[in-house]
Amino acid sequence: MSAPYAPVTAEIARRVTHIVGERHVIYAATDRLEPYGHDESVDESGTPHLPELVVRPGSAAEIQALVRLANTANVPITPRGAGSGLSGGAVPIYGGIVLDVCRLNRILEIDTENLMVVVEPGVITSEINEKLRPHRLFYAGYPMSLESCCIAGNVAENAGGGKAVKYGVTGRYVTGLDVVAPNGDLLQLGGKLVKDVTGLNLLQLMVGSEGTLGIFTRIILKLLPLPVASVDLLCLFPTAGAAIGAVPRIMTSTGIIPTAIEFMDQTSVRATCSYLNESIPYEQAGAMLLITVDGTDAGQVERDYERIGEACEANGAFEVYVADNRTTSERLWRIRRNIAEAFKVISPHQSLEDIVVPMAAIPAMVEAVEKLAIAYDVSIPCYGHAGDGNLHATPVMNPAWSLERWRTTLPDLLTELYRETARLGGRISGEHGIGCKRKGYMHLAVDEGSLRMMRTIKRALDPNGIMNPGKIVDVEAPA
Ligand code: LAC
Ligand code: ZN
Repeated sequence: MSAPYAPVTAEIARRVTHIVGERHVIYAATDRLEPYGHDESVDESGTPHLPELVVRPGSAAEIQALVRLANTANVPITPRGAGSGLSGGAVPIYGGIVLDVCRLNRILEIDTENLMVVVEPGVITSEINEKLRPHRLFYAGYPMSLESCCIAGNVAENAGGGKAVKYGVTGRYVTGLDVVAPNGDLLQLGGKLVKDVTGLNLLQLMVGSEGTLGIFTRIILKLLPLPVASVDLLCLFPTAGAAIGAVPRIMTSTGIIPTAIEFMDQTSVRATCSYLNESIPYEQAGAMLLITVDGTDAGQVERDYERIGEACEANGAFEVYVADNRTTSERLWRIRRNIAEAFKVISPHQSLEDIVVPMAAIPAMVEAVEKLAIAYDVSIPCYGHAGDGNLHATPVMNPAWSLERWRTTLPDLLTELYRETARLGGRISGEHGIGCKRKGYMHLAVDEGSLRMMRTIKRALDPNGIMNPGKIVDVEAPA
């Protein structure tokens, strides 16, 4: 499909430079533009997606001017944080301008009276909690890429991560957003408010909009008191089925909602330990659950983790290790956070999936994935946020295959995987988003009326289609 957009001419580049200054523009330098042509997802299309220009604005006013320019000139503009996304959200598939928010990286205010933090979009997520620790407060978002991702990307994708079982996902904590709309208007949505029903909920429409409806320039996040105690359990199971089968039972039999219940199969643990040159007791384990319990009462945390440990043993765990100090906990979580990276080393040809099903359906989902792996003769290691039903099944190219065979087989495999997910009441992405990676599969899990409404919203808010085009749904399709 040919792009219905205007090219970034030297004249447009000159006007961009006038807005932000020469130091903050990359133009006509392919080698320097190349890093902005992809994110962390594997792109099997073989098509490069170079932007024509990259701009790093230093203020909301500059972003407004840039968006107005793009809108008037009919040039696509794609917002970008750290580029750690996993669905191609920040990839400029029609070229045009990539707007990198990295210079807007200040924590503007830690408001201890209102339990809120006000940040700029390019703040690295882990930095927020580092700055909050002395105040004994914390922000509950915990994406696995927290040491490298930007908070604006977390908001744009409504990132989930490792603590969603207890704390929920990013959107729960976003109470205020300043957004530059596709026409250049600066919208001030919400505020330092726990409640707000003043009109349509545009704030939560923006959360998870994957950069297609506007660019965030300021974000207000709700904070919680820092837990005083946190303990991790590493529970070893003989098989993946046994570990995953225990997940719903842990919560229903104890009545305790842990902070995290992470699932790692044997392939995931082995690959990551070898990637990190780590070793943990795993040799006989077919799969593991990494369970966190935290709270503001140390005695309660201890009672809770003991009961959860017992529930794991009653449901098939043959060993439960307790990590009750920060060093050991961090060692275990470092392994968990690095699985995706380790898999990339195993094979560059893979598809990191992000299916999500109701919690009680997760054993059936893992069983379905195992059947698909046999049927398609590919390995599909699994790990993920089992406690909230979010599974990163990762089909990896059979090393005996040609690249062509892999590329033609993968869409069929994914179609079957997504159909099965939908049949179990699930959706095709729990936290990574649709972007361009899953756009072609939306109809498998989303009804036609809902798709039509998404297109209508996109057209109404971005009539020229300049804001991160080609993501989530194609607006060219009939409304
Ligand atoms: C994780 C990323 C891939 O859970 O979402 O490791
Ligand atoms: Zn994840």
